[in-house]
Amino acid sequence: MSDFARRLIEWQRHHGRHDLPWQGSRDPYRIWLSEIMLQQTQVSTVIPYYARFLERFPDVAALAAAPVDDVMALWSGLGYYARARNLHRAAQQVMSDHGGVFPHSAEQIVKLPGVGRSTAAAIAAFSSGERGPILDGNVKRVLCRVFGIEGFPGEKAVESRLWALAGSLLPQDGISTYIQAQMDLGATVCTRGKPACTRCPLADECIARLGNRISSLPTPRPKKHIPRRSVRVAVIVDRGAVLLERRPPTGIWGGLLSLPEVPEQETEVGNWVRDRLGVDTGPGAALTPLTHTFTHFVLDIQPWRFDLTARNPRAEEGDRTLWLPLANMTAAALPTPVRSILLRMEADVFAGGAQLS
Ligand code: ADE
Repeated sequence: MSDFARRLIEWQRHHGRHDLPWQGSRDPYRIWLSEIMLQQTQVSTVIPYYARFLERFPDVAALAAAPVDDVMALWSGLGYYARARNLHRAAQQVMSDHGGVFPHSAEQIVKLPGVGRSTAAAIAAFSSGERGPILDGNVKRVLCRVFGIEGFPGEKAVESRLWALAGSLLPQDGISTYIQAQMDLGATVCTRGKPACTRCPLADECIARLGNRISSLPTPRPKKHIPRRSVRVAVIVDRGAVLLERRPPTGIWGGLLSLPEVPEQETEVGNWVRDRLGVDTGPGAALTPLTHTFTHFVLDIQPWRFDLTARNPRAEEGDRTLWLPLANMTAAALPTPVRSILLRMEADVFAGGAQLS
C-alpha cells in the first residue's frame, strides 16, 4: 500500500467523520443521493434536505414515480437545480434499464445522468467496496499540494495527470475508508484558505508545505482576458433634478433608468448635449470617472455634468426620458454606477461644491 494511503486510512480511523447520515448504509440509492446533494454543497446544508428527501422518496422506485415538480420542491434551496432534474431522470433510467435495481458498479453508475467519473467511483466504493480513484475538488487540492503538481487542475493535461496519480495511490483494501478519508481531509484539514497543517497526516511529506507554496498550490484558474469599454455619460441637471433615459429592454441594464450615453463618434460632449436638448447649458465639467465590472467586460465611465441655464422650456420628457428629482433617487431603478455618480454629486453639494439648482 502506498504510504499516502496508509497514512490517510489511519488518520480517518481516528479523526475522520463517522456519523454522517449516509455513512451507515450500503444502499447505492442512498449513497448516490448523498453524493449528488454534496456536489458543490456543504455537509451541514445537505443533512436536513437528505432526511426530508428520503422520507418522501425512500427508494428509487418512489423517486422515479414522483412528478418532477415534487422533486424540485424538495430540492428548493439547495441550488444547482440541474442536479434535481438529472436525479429524477436517473431514477427513471434505473427503473427502465436496470429493472429497478440501483447498479453497484462504477461502469454502470457513470452512465446515469448527472453522475461523473469521480462520483460514480465514490458510490461504487461506498456501496460495494469497488476499488477505483476519485478526483473531486478536495482531492485535486490535496494531490496538487502533497505532490507539488503545478498547473490549473481544471485543465485537461493536469487533470489526466491527477487521475493517473490518484489511481496509483489506491490501497488494495479498505477502499471506502480511504475514499472517505480523502473527502474528510480536504474538507476539514487541507482546506482552500487556511489549511490546518499541524493536524495533517501528510504534512511531513507535503511539497507545498515544505516549499512554502501552500497559497500558490493548486494553481488558480487562469484569468480570462476581460475586454474593456469606455463610455461618456451626461449628467444634465436642472433645479435638483437629473435627466434620465430608460434603456432598451435588452443589453446591459435592460429596462433600467440611466444617464444619457454620449455616442462614441461625438467629439464634443457639450455640443451634443445642447443639440439634443435644444436648450442652453453652462460649460461641461468632467466628474470623477468610475469603473464598473460586469461578468464579461469592464466599463470605464466618464460622467460629464451640465447645468441648464435657460430655464424654460425645460427639455421635454419623452417616452424614454424623464427628470428624476435627486430626492427621489432611492426608490428609482438605477444601475449601481449611475446611483454612485448621483450620490457623489449630491455629496458635493452638501460639501459646499456646485449647486444643484
Ligand atoms: N462530499 C462529497 N461526498 C462526501 C461524503 N460522502 N462525505 C462527506 N463529504 C462529502
